[in-house]
Amino acid sequence: MISSQNIQHTYDRVSSLYDLFFKPWLESGRERAVEVLDPAAGSKILEIGVGTGLGLEYYPRDVEVIGFDYSFGMLKESKQKAYTSKCRVNLVQMDVENLAFADHSFDYLIGAYVLTVVSDPGKAIKEIFRVARPGARVVLVNYLRSRGKIMGVIEDLFHPIFSRLGLFTLDHDLPGLLKQNGADNIRTEPTSFLRTHHIISFTTPA
Ligand SMILES: C[S@@+](CC[C@H](N)C(=O)[O-])C[C@H]1O[C@@H](n2cnc3c(N)ncnc32)[C@H](O)[C@@H]1O
Repeated sequence: MISSQNIQHTYDRVSSLYDLFFKPWLESGRERAVEVLDPAAGSKILEIGVGTGLGLEYYPRDVEVIGFDYSFGMLKESKQKAYTSKCRVNLVQMDVENLAFADHSFDYLIGAYVLTVVSDPGKAIKEIFRVARPGARVVLVNYLRSRGKIMGVIEDLFHPIFSRLGLFTLDHDLPGLLKQNGADNIRTEPTSFLRTHHIISFTTPA
């Protein structure tokens, strides 16, 4: 399992260069995720692992976003984008595995390229379901393990290297975790130019 401290150190270190490497090829997923979320006017959205704030430009002006991240370095980079975004944005440092929000606080939740990075995705998903209102809409952008044998072998080969570096993991079954927690209306669509990532949308149990 990738450790939380490892993740925090890695993202603190790479934060100032993050946009240079991760904006261009992952951007379509961020934009599409907000389209699929389709938040109602006046709603409050929880953005999980907001990072350097690359997704903030896509929200409409009539919503409020609470964006949190574990890495102070990433949050520091996101401040300027929060300032120039169309909608109101509040940023806070928090761990998705231990959220400081009351049960059933949000109707809309979104997280891009985060659950492959957290130390315990099962715990993170449980927390996401806890703070979501019954029937809330959740949109995640994530790498999904390939069903192909060859890609599976490649993933198994690279997983220990990337997780030791504190970058990301390739060994968990996100659709399985969502089903275990009672997610409804699960839909997936491929995104990113290599089609390796997916937009996964669902609603929490009503
Ligand atoms: C690959 S980046 C994605 C950032 C952003 N969502 C984007 O689209 O560029 C993963 C982010 O998840 C954050 N993260 C990792 N573990 C976390 C945790 N336990 N709680 C909150 N954020 C976490 C990292 O600090 C990092 O900013």
